[in-house]
Order: sequence, then structure tokens, then C-alpha cells
Amino acid sequence: MTSANAVDLSVHIGAVRLRNPILAASGTFGYGVEFAQLVDLNRLGGIVVKGLSREPMEGAPAPRLCETPAGMLNAVGLQNIGVRAFVLEKLPILRKYDTAIIANVFGYCVEDYVEVIRILEDAEGLTAYELNISCPNVKRGGLQFGGDPGLVAEVVGAARKAATKRPLWVKLSPLVADIGLIARTAEEAGANALTVANTYPAMAIDPWTGKSCLGNQTGGLSGPSIKPITLRLVWETYKAIKIPILGVGGIETVEDVLQYLAVGATAVQVGTASFTDPAVSQGLVEGLERALFRAKMFTVNEIRGKIFADFG
Ligand SMILES: Cc1cc2nc3c(=O)[nH]c(=O)nc-3n(C[C@H](O)[C@H](O)[C@H](O)COP(=O)(O)O)c2cc1C
Repeated sequence: MTSANAVDLSVHIGAVRLRNPILAASGTFGYGVEFAQLVDLNRLGGIVVKGLSREPMEGAPAPRLCETPAGMLNAVGLQNIGVRAFVLEKLPILRKYDTAIIANVFGYCVEDYVEVIRILEDAEGLTAYELNISCPNVKRGGLQFGGDPGLVAEVVGAARKAATKRPLWVKLSPLVADIGLIARTAEEAGANALTVANTYPAMAIDPWTGKSCLGNQTGGLSGPSIKPITLRLVWETYKAIKIPILGVGGIETVEDVLQYLAVGATAVQVGTASFTDPAVSQGLVEGLERALFRAKMFTVNEIRGKIFADFG
């Protein structure tokens, strides 16, 4: 017997069964289809597509990416083709693959989120919605949805009502004083799972010009440098809620995956690492399979049971 057919990597995110706990994170894997030549998409636990808005968006001025020690800054400005073009052009190709497709949704007011979901509700081939609440609310003076419990309750509640056909995952902002409070608020408003977390607002400055390395002045920090911070956020979230957590931040290796499982994540998403190795997510699936087989464990629950860190 080979490791490949002995190990069952499947996990459940509420009612959704994923074939394994490794997903591609939003914004770092295009609409999935662009990676089909580089990765066997059928091997992944799922693909979270680039954030979708009501109308197409051009995004932020260049440069949009900048390397930082053990990480990267990005200010893509949520460029995307818009929800209708996604449904017409990308989804028909994507749904032919045997993997979970998750639509990442964002907006600048509650109605935007609801409208994007309303359009997706009529489309075939999606597994769940992931709400990106790290967005400024234009009606409330640019205050981020994700930082204010009242706004979290409002946007998640409205999305919950609109999403009658599919589970709703909510992707939390890491820049909050009490992530447990925000997590509980999202759970009570109807979230079926939480993704923890998005990038960290940050800056990089060219020392010789004194100017930002990004066209947009500030950006979001991602990659290995954020892993220890996000691990703690996952742990704090785990203690506060009952619904499953998807951990995301700085994952590159099987050990990183195990660390996220140890602090309470049921699955993980891989973001920045796909920029250096587009096939890293498939490699992690195969690496996790081998690691479990070597440890004589045959399900993800077994390894979770063994490594789960009960810090009390
Ligand atoms: C270039 C880029 C674009 C991103 N776009 C989105 C997006 O559209 N929606 C979203 O929820 N998160 C987006 N993210 C955040 C990632 O999904 C992920 O939460 C974050 O990068 C942390 O994971 P990592 O350290 O593995 O990259 C983006 C990240 C990067 C680097």
C-alpha cells in the first residue's frame, strides 16, 4: 500500500467536505484557471478565487508588490473582473475541476456584498462564499467593516440572508483589538466558518527617495513574517467560537500546516508562497500525506488529536 491511498486527508468545514485541508488563498491564485497548467487543481482541498466586486475594478497604481524581510507587501487595490464576468468567463471552466470553489466577496457598503452574493446565487459550481470584511465602508467614513462589531453583525447578517444556497465563511481582519469578540459576532450573525486572517496594514519606504515602495503608499503584509502573529489570532479565535476555522498566514511547509492545526484550525489556505512556487499547495497536500503515513496516522483528525495544543 502506498501512502497516497492509505491516508484520508478529508476534513469537514461545517457541512462541506473538503478532500484535504489545503486551499489556495484569495488573491494569490487568480481565478484558479490560470494555475491549471502548473498545478493539478483536482489535488487541492479548494480554491478561493480573487475577491469579486459588483463591478470590475482596475485596482491600485503600480508598483503593487514589494518584497520585505520574510514576506511581501501588496497593494493590488482589489483589482478584479467583476462578479458577472467571473460567472460567465471563469466559473464554467473552473467548475469542471473536482475541487471546492469558494467565491471571495467584497464591497464598500452592505448592499455591494448582498448584490455580489445575489448574482452568485444563480450560478452553478460554487461550494461556499468567503466574505472579505477587511474593506473600508464608504458610508461610514471609510471605517473598516472588520474592526467594528456593529458593522460585522450588519454585513454578515445581510450576507447570511442573501446566501440561501451556500455556506458563508467570513474572513477576519487581523487588525482588531479583540479578535474573540469579532469572531463571536460573526458566528452569531450566521457565519458557518471563519478564515483567520487577512494581511496586516504596513509600509515599506525607499530610503533614498523617502517614498513608498508601493504606488498606493500603504499595503498589506503577508508571508512567513506574519505567521507567529496569525497563529495567535487563530488560537484566540478558536477559544471564542464553535464553528470551524481556516488558518491563513505565512504557510510554506508541512510543519507550518501542523502548527495551524495545533492551535485549532480545521483547514489552511496558502497565499504568498504560491508566488515563489505556484505548485506549493499541491506539494503541501502530498507532503502532509507522506508525513501522516510516516507517523502511522491515517486521518487528519488523528494528527489533530495528537498535536492539538491545549494551552487552557
Ligand atoms: C497579492 C495579494 C492579493 C490578495 N487579495 C485578496 C483578496 O482579493 N481577498 C482576500 O480576502 N484576501 C486577499 N489577500 C490575502 C490573502 O488571501 C491571505 O489572507 C494573506 O496573504 C495571508 O496569507 P499568506 O501569508 O499565506 O500570503 C491577498 C494577498 C495577496 C498577497
